[in-house]
Amino acid sequence: MSKNRVQIFDTTLRDGEQVPGCKLNTEQKLIIAERLDILGVDVIEAGFPISSPGDFTSVEKISKLVKNATVCGLTRANKKDIEVAAQALKYAKRPRIHTGIGTSESHIKYKFNSTQEKIMERAFEATAYAKKFVEDVEFYAEDAGRTDNEYLARVLEKVIKAGATVLNIPDTTGYCLPDEYGAKIKYLKENVKGIENVILSCHCHNDLGLATANAIAGIQNGARQIECTINGIGERAGNTALEEVVMIMKQHPYLNLDTGINTKLLYDTSLLVQRSMGMIVQPNKAVVGENAFAHSSGIHQDGVIKNRETYEIMDPAEVGVTESSIVLTARSGRAALAYRAKNVGYDLTKIELDDLYPQFLKFADHHKTVNDEDIHHLMELNHIHKSKVHI
Ligand code: KIV
Ligand code: ZN
Repeated sequence: MSKNRVQIFDTTLRDGEQVPGCKLNTEQKLIIAERLDILGVDVIEAGFPISSPGDFTSVEKISKLVKNATVCGLTRANKKDIEVAAQALKYAKRPRIHTGIGTSESHIKYKFNSTQEKIMERAFEATAYAKKFVEDVEFYAEDAGRTDNEYLARVLEKVIKAGATVLNIPDTTGYCLPDEYGAKIKYLKENVKGIENVILSCHCHNDLGLATANAIAGIQNGARQIECTINGIGERAGNTALEEVVMIMKQHPYLNLDTGINTKLLYDTSLLVQRSMGMIVQPNKAVVGENAFAHSSGIHQDGVIKNRETYEIMDPAEVGVTESSIVLTARSGRAALAYRAKNVGYDLTKIELDDLYPQFLKFADHHKTVNDEDIHHLMELNHIHKSKVHI
């Protein structure tokens, strides 16, 4: 059976770049956009063209540069935003305008001081106006996570009539639980006329640490696009992490879902974004963190040395990490010490290992980790020499 293709919509350069301190210059954005295109994302949200002259230029240059992906520009639901976005996307091979408006009670009341009917009209007009410039128009119902489903369905029916090709259902505040977000997508699939002709998109924020789980719940209920960022960067606690959703789909083949991502480029892409934005991911970050394939406790190390799959559900090579690492700490066992010593040239006998191990533990108790230098030092102290093949 052929797999269901899930479109990957990367918003590192738009929602991701909204993070304080992560501002990129045009040159950096072009480098990242080119890498995203090579990585195999389907859509690159290149920016919010009306927000600043710099963003306009970036979107324009990215439009000229990108060979395969659709290039998308964000707008609010007004004519000027849409005209400027269309202008910035002029050179794109596959341009998309991403327009929309807040649909939740609090957005309608406090942000717009308006009514449901008026907001629905604005949504229709913005979509229809964007359609005059490009064929591919994505509509976002901001704060859809907290929008009443029945009203949301009416808004979406209206924008489908105006020509929307993709409907974005953002959990803007990261409020939903996975079953709630999944049920929302299911409801829309079942209750919106014309939904079979458009793609439903998940755009989830991570305020409660549920962005990835929510996006996957959306996909399991019929959405076919995920909006995400490299390393999960984005407003506040961030967006769905691209590397996480892609690897979830890859590691769970029974979901029967597929993306066009070359996963072997994930780690390098993560490093590129970390360096460019000066935003280093936490060591325990799933898939791309420093410790994602590192093993430090004796029981785990022993298992991994015997067979990697005992404690690893994915092969590090699949995401572009050279190998799993065995980190020596005071929790490490003999197997790990022997393994690491061998890696730096010492084939220890059982007697040597038995002698060395208590010394190693004493040292490790006073240090966070034991590195290659420390191993050499320990060997020197014990007059142990490298085995011939390593000299
Ligand atoms: O989180 C959100 O609602 C957004 C929209 C502008 C798509 O980023
Ligand atoms: Zn967002």
